[in-house]
Amino acid sequence: MTQEITAKAHAKVNLHLGVGHVREDGYHELVTVFQSLSLYDVVRITPADVMGAGCVEKLQADAPGVPEDASNLAWKAAEAVAQRSGEQLSRVAIELRKGIPVAGGMAGGSADAAATLLAMNATLQRPLSEAVLLEIAAELGSDIPFTLLGETRVGTGRGEALTPLMSRGQYHWALAFSKQGLSTPEVFAKLDTMEREAHLSYEAVAQALMRADAQTLAEALHNDLQAAALSLRPDLRKVLNMGERAGALRGIVSGSGPTCAFLCADAESAQEVAAELGVYYRTATATGPAPGAELMEGSAWSI
Ligand code: C5P
Repeated sequence: MTQEITAKAHAKVNLHLGVGHVREDGYHELVTVFQSLSLYDVVRITPADVMGAGCVEKLQADAPGVPEDASNLAWKAAEAVAQRSGEQLSRVAIELRKGIPVAGGMAGGSADAAATLLAMNATLQRPLSEAVLLEIAAELGSDIPFTLLGETRVGTGRGEALTPLMSRGQYHWALAFSKQGLSTPEVFAKLDTMEREAHLSYEAVAQALMRADAQTLAEALHNDLQAAALSLRPDLRKVLNMGERAGALRGIVSGSGPTCAFLCADAESAQEVAAELGVYYRTATATGPAPGAELMEGSAWSI
C-alpha cells in the first residue's frame, strides 16, 4: 500500500483588517474578518528512509523563497504534532507544492503549517482533537488557526481567537501577485510610524456578507495595513488602479501584501480582470469562502 498523506492548504484574504494597539508581547491587537479562498498549496507527507533525530527528515518546496529547513512553519508543525502526541513516529519527508504566493499576504506559509498539522495527525494511532490542533496552531503563528478551519471567521487577539461569521453566497476574486514579497513584521513596523486611526468595526462587512451582495461587500472592504504596504511598495497603487479600471468592483492589498485582491461581480469578470492584469503580473482567480485545511483523496498511512 502506498504510504502518503496529501492535504490542501487554502489561502486567505482579509475582508476587514483593523489593527489596534501594540501589546507588551510585540503583537498588535487585531479585529479581522478572514475568508478562505479556493487557491491552495498541496502538502504531501511520505515516510522518510533515513534514520536520525527529529520527526522530519527533509522538506522540499517547488517555489523559490520557501525555507527548506526547520525554520519552515510546516516543519515546525510536524515536529509539534509528534511531540504533543507522545507517540513514537517514523520519520517523514514533507513536500510543498505552492499555488499560493510566497510572502504574499495570503497566509501561504500558515496554510502549509495548518495542512501539515492535519496530515501529521492522520498518521497518529490516537489522533489529537481539533481543540489541541488549534492550540498548537496558535502557538506556531497568528494566522494558522484560521487556515486550519477556513470559511469566514472573525479573528481577534493576535488574529488567533476565532468566531464564525455568517457569509451567504460566493465571492469571485482576481489576484495579482508580486515578484517580490513583503515582510509582515516590516509592514506592521511601518504602520507604527504612521499617523492613523484604527478602524476596528467590521459591521459593514458583516452586513454585506449577510446580504450576499458583492457590490456592498466591495464598498465595505477595509485593510488598516494597506497604507503601510503602499508606503513600502508605492507601485502597488498602480496595480490596484489597473484592476479597478479592468472592471473589478474594488481592489485591496491582501493582508500585509503585496498581493492585490480584486473583488469582482462574477466569475467572468474575475477572469477578465485576471487576464488584463496578467499582461504585467502573475495572476489567478479564486472564489471564497472555501474550506480550511483538508485531507485529499487517496491519503493512506498504515501504522
Ligand atoms: O504570528 P506570526 O508569526 O504569523 O506573526 C508574524 C509577525 O507579524 C509578528 O512577528 C509581528 O511582527 C506581526 N504581527 C503583529 N500583530 C499580529 C500578528 C502579527 O504585529 N496580531
